[in-house]
Amino acid sequence: WPRGAKREDGVVSIGGIDVRDLAKEYGTPLFVYDEEDVRSRAREYVAAFHDGSVHYAGKAFLCTAVARWLDEEGLGLDVCSGGELAVALAAGFPTERITMHGSNKSVAELERALEVGVGRIVLDSFQEIARLGYLAQEKGLRPKVMVRVTTGVEAHTHEFIATAHDDQKFGFSRTSGAALEAVRRVLELRQMELVGLHSHIGSQIFDVDGFEVAAHRLAELLVAIRDEHGIELPELDLGGGYGIAYLPGDEPHDPKALADGLRAIVSRECRAYGLSMPRLTVEPGRAIIGPGGVTLYEVGTVKDVEGLRAYVSVDGGMSDNLRTALYGAEYTCVLASRASDTGPMLSRLVGKHCESGDIVVRDLWLPEDLAAGDLVAVAATGAYCRSMASNYNYVPKPAVVAVRNGASRVIVRRETHDDLLRLDAEVGA
Ligand code: LLP
Repeated sequence: WPRGAKREDGVVSIGGIDVRDLAKEYGTPLFVYDEEDVRSRAREYVAAFHDGSVHYAGKAFLCTAVARWLDEEGLGLDVCSGGELAVALAAGFPTERITMHGSNKSVAELERALEVGVGRIVLDSFQEIARLGYLAQEKGLRPKVMVRVTTGVEAHTHEFIATAHDDQKFGFSRTSGAALEAVRRVLELRQMELVGLHSHIGSQIFDVDGFEVAAHRLAELLVAIRDEHGIELPELDLGGGYGIAYLPGDEPHDPKALADGLRAIVSRECRAYGLSMPRLTVEPGRAIIGPGGVTLYEVGTVKDVEGLRAYVSVDGGMSDNLRTALYGAEYTCVLASRASDTGPMLSRLVGKHCESGDIVVRDLWLPEDLAAGDLVAVAATGAYCRSMASNYNYVPKPAVVAVRNGASRVIVRRETHDDLLRLDAEVGA
């Protein structure tokens, strides 16, 4: 739950506002962000990595308001598409603090990144090195670049969100020698300045070991690069992936302990080989934006499936939270609009879409007297829910509201049917 959430007499409030008032004013389903929660987590990461930089991974959730909060808190921003870059620019985010990611950036995306002068471009394939080299030469520019390395770490997380084992699409493999070959090619081209190596091992990871192994292997590569080319790369980007609490037992990382641990490993390695300590960058997305977001839904039906459980249908579903269907994600959910003293009933929180897999929370206990019109709140939906939302079944995407100090405001408007119909080229034809 957000740091500013409370529950009194069964009623949840966030940032000092009763969720019943939020639902009344803005409708449901509704994404509610506790602005102070997001800002305070951002500040903690910035303080922990005071001698490096923290880049927020915009894919977790991005809109101009959030980009501005994080700019004000001193973070950089990672974008991985032309669309995310457009949001950053619309927010006036300083371009030198933007890193351009993407495993298959289009020519148009690379051109835009060059034109606006993003701070770093992370290279992901040999084709991209050639493509960017050509575009940079054409424009007479010399972008700062990093080479993304697949460190061979098997992160303990869901298969779909692990990214550094060998059999996947991202980056240049360390073991096959592709990473060192990429460094050679970049250095041969005069049109780019190689500033460092990048690695991202996966997402929602609690185990520090994986990050430590990756940091160690990258430091070894820095040594190999020094030995081959006589240069010391000044930066090391260790990506994001720091796990957050979705369920009561989950223990999230302490940013300071994380920073100290990573710094110690890289510095030990560098000292052993006589390298100067590179500047460390991390890219947390979920750890900054995830805990501060809550989804509010209104219950529409409660169906007792005899001998099994109650199916509680809400007014959203897999179109605003795909994570349960896609990764088997687990969430905490409570009745948020009133107290109840009835016993618990085994339930499944489901959506309104035409699929059995349209599940928001697979197994949970809700009070037996739960009824249509009640509000339920699902915690820790700030990351990868609104950003992965779809219009399946032509369902408009929910609004996003920010709360702070007892005041609320819309930061992303609710979609309407007209918004969706606007793209239908033959409406009214
Ligand atoms: N940096 C890079 C290069 C990344 O690919 C990612 C996430 C991050 C940073 C931020 O990771 P975070 O700190 O947020 O874990 N849709 C999935 C997560 C996919 C993450 C993809 N890359 C989910 O809902 O769990």
